[in-house]
Order: sequence, then C-alpha cells, then structure tokens
Amino acid sequence: MSDGEGAVEIAVDLPDGGVLAGMAEVVREGLSSPFKELPPKYFYDERGSELFERITEQPEYYPTRCEREILDARAGEIVAAAQPRTLIELGSGAATKSRVLLDAMRDAGTLERFVPVDIAEGITRRVAAELVDEYPGLTVEGIVCDYETHLERIPRPEGALIAFLGGTIGNFRPAPRRQFLARIATLMYPEDRFLLGTDLVKDRARLEAAYDDAAGVTAEFNKNVLNVLNRELGADFDLGAFEHVAFWDDDNEWIDIRLRALSEQFVDIVDLDMRAHFARNEEMRTEISTKFTRERIESSYADAGLELTDWWTDADGLYALSLARPL
Ligand code: TRP
Repeated sequence: MSDGEGAVEIAVDLPDGGVLAGMAEVVREGLSSPFKELPPKYFYDERGSELFERITEQPEYYPTRCEREILDARAGEIVAAAQPRTLIELGSGAATKSRVLLDAMRDAGTLERFVPVDIAEGITRRVAAELVDEYPGLTVEGIVCDYETHLERIPRPEGALIAFLGGTIGNFRPAPRRQFLARIATLMYPEDRFLLGTDLVKDRARLEAAYDDAAGVTAEFNKNVLNVLNRELGADFDLGAFEHVAFWDDDNEWIDIRLRALSEQFVDIVDLDMRAHFARNEEMRTEISTKFTRERIESSYADAGLELTDWWTDADGLYALSLARPL
C-alpha cells in the first residue's frame, strides 16, 4: 500500500455502541422537554451523509463552494502564515479539504504528518491509506473518535495547524462553543495555529434559501433524523406527518432548523418505553447554524484565549476562514 517511507496508525477511541452510545438518554430528554429538541449528531448515518453531500451541491447552499474557493486561493498564504509540519483536521471525512492544505504544505516543504480526526472509521482508514501513497514520506496518525468529547485524546505534535472547517462551529450552542474554543486554546503549543471555517451573517433571503433548497434535499436530510430514531430506538415517526422549517433568528444570529408536526399525533418510542405527544403545528428543533461577523469571531477568540491573526473571505464576502494563535 504505502511507499515504505510513510506510516499509518489509526487509533479507535469510541464508546461501546459508537456514535449512538448515549443516544437513548439524550433523545428521551429532548422529547420530554416542553420545547422539543433533538441532538444533531444523529443526522449523519449513511443516508444522512449522502444527503448532506447532495446539499453541498445545491445552488442555494453556498458555504461549501465558498470555503473551497478560499482554500484554493489562499492555501499557500495559510501555510506561509502558520508554518505547520502537522495538519490536524477535526471532522476530516473524505479529506477533500485536507488535500488542498496538504498540497500547500508539501509545496512549502514542511509537510510531515496528518492527523485525521473523524467519527467514521471506514472512511478514515481508507483515506489514510490513500494519503500515504499520494504524499511520499507522510505519516498519518489518525484517531476515530467524537472530537467534542475526546479532544484531549487527539495526538498533537508541536507545529500543528488545527483545522475545523465546514462551518460546523456554528452548529454548537453558545456555551459549548465557548468551552470548545477554550479547550482548543488550552491544547495548543505557542507555535500552533487554529484554522476555522465560519459562515457569515448576510441577508435573510439568502440564508434561509441555503437551508431550504428548492429541490427539497435539506428537507429530506432534516426528516432523515426521524428515520434514525425509528431504526435505532424502535420509534414510529411518520415522516410524512412532519414538515421542514428553517428560519433566520435575528437576535441569536442563527438559522433555526426544525420539524413541524402537520397534525396532532402520538409517537411511540419502544426502546425508551415512551410515548411523545405532538400538538398540531408543534415545532421540534433539530439544529442551529450560527452565522458570524468578524467582530464576533474576534471576541469569541479573545474569550477563549486565542487571537485572530489572519482573515480570508471568498470574493462575495459570504464565508470566512480565520487563523488564530494562542495568547
Ligand atoms: N454544518 C452545516 C451547516 O450548518 C450543516 C447543515 C447544512 C445542516 N444544512 C443543514 C444541518 C440542514 C441540519 C439541517 O451549514
């Protein structure tokens, strides 16, 4: 497989039951509260991951294309500013974005190591094997884990660029987001850099369209979470009895993503020994997607013990990559 120089090591640090461990309790809590809420982690089963790929191809969903535009245009600058020998990517997936950064590190002559961090074992192993072939001499030291709970277990050699892309930080609630950034800051060596992808605040119409595409892919993705509950917890959600809702919340500066019950109904969740009641038009939140301004990112960094050093956007100013160093 490899050229003999590079090496692959993938550690697996998942609880028994993998991503789904602890699901029963969070779902019970979410469905018992007066304002129902489902944890977003469960969007990404196999079908969900496919649907998300299709979302990124919809004309209305600009973030993925904008982030790619910035990476393509600025990878050289990012690497020149960060001077990394290691790339750590949180949520590396198929490593499409990582390759752009790895190319720039190779061209700069500094590339030594790639640390992919992802919850999906199969793809992480596959990508690791491909990359040691593509980049002669590269060491891949990956870890299969939930980076939110296992951040402290991630290998972190000095001189790393820690990348957290895709705007995923926007899916954290404010308090966990603050804690997450602070934990990152604590883990960083002085010469490490943090590269963050964030979607930016813009007009309501454009934001709402990105989360409610005309082809209905986002709606299907949102409802798929009910399929996951049906399969994993023996629930009997009727997908046709809910509709997708996505609206811009100006006060919180996030897109609020929900499922609205089209009629009054009861849902049995056998594994939880529970029956949930939905009133007609009752809405259950499934995700938030926070949008940022440069000022807000700078102050979030400062709160976490980080300092913004560089800022790049796409040509239309819709999306930003920022680089930060520990204070
Ligand atoms: N990280 C993506 C985002 O916030 C995830 C996402 C896109 C998403 N569309 C969605 C999550 C619809 C739930 C529902 O942009």
